[in-house]
Amino acid sequence: MTRLNVLALSGSLRRGSLNTALLREAERLGPHHRFDHYDGLGRLPHFNEDQEHPAPSAVTELRHRVQDADAVLIASPEYNASIPGALKNALDWLSRPAGDDGPALALKPVAVIGASPGPFGTVRAQLTLRQVLHKMNARVVQQPEFLLFQAHQQFSGDGRLPDGSPAQQLLCAVLDALGQLATTEQYQDRTRA
Ligand SMILES: Cc1cc2nc3c(=O)[nH]c(=O)nc-3n(C[C@H](O)[C@H](O)[C@H](O)COP(=O)(O)O)c2cc1C
Repeated sequence: MTRLNVLALSGSLRRGSLNTALLREAERLGPHHRFDHYDGLGRLPHFNEDQEHPAPSAVTELRHRVQDADAVLIASPEYNASIPGALKNALDWLSRPAGDDGPALALKPVAVIGASPGPFGTVRAQLTLRQVLHKMNARVVQQPEFLLFQAHQQFSGDGRLPDGSPAQQLLCAVLDALGQLATTEQYQDRTRA
């Protein structure tokens, strides 16, 4: 099985975040991969075209971590039927070229997942996120879709999804799909170019 460097990006800044817990669960389910959990979303300055050159150090660090990753796994909450502003801010920074490098997420394999205590499991946020990633020319896993509704009831006390639960199996399937996307010839060709 191919070992991937996966950048795990939570759209939540909250300590007890369900979405961050989802990423930790993904790491446990994919022990052959190397997970890099990015927690710097709250330290990124608001995107400002006047401050792009030179880029703020926090932005450069995020870009490097995306560049170093074979794939990116984003778990985002839904805020007011969309994605959190902090996540959109990070994506705006990542949509911009830096020096000779193109936008860091362009052609990058990305999977989108989300958890919500509500009944819709972040479906509207995920639609928005997919639209933004499409504009950024990221290569996004289309199937399966992972939406965890009533998520506060689905995690056990230790912050895990129950072994063998449908949610856990679906998360494994998302990781498999992300792995397949990251190892297709098209992507390999790009990284060799
Ligand atoms: C400003 C705000 C707006 C929210 N809007 C939605 C929403 O539109 N849909 C939804 O399912 N949950 C909404 N919620 C509830 C979040 O899904 C819930 O707080 C969730 O736990 C956030 O994700 P996290 O646990 O990863 O931080 C909202 C929460 C906040 C703070």
